[in-house]
Amino acid sequence: MATHETIERNGKLRTTIKLEPGERVALCRCMHSKNFPFCDGTHNKVEGSTGPVIVEALREPVSESGSE
Ligand code: FES
Repeated sequence: MATHETIERNGKLRTTIKLEPGERVALCRCMHSKNFPFCDGTHNKVEGSTGPVIVEALREPVSESGSE
């Protein structure tokens, strides 16, 4: 399950989200979510075309050389 932590750093809030392999989250870009930083679907009720950012953790690590 995704976990997140928000800390203040140099006067700015910084959020770190940790995902399990294969896990996926939707992050709010419209700034209207009541569950920020996660999207709660509120963007569908506000004007504009901004939707969430979808972030997905890979199930397998990507090889550095690009070969398998
Ligand atoms: S609620 Fe903000 S992008 Fe979905």
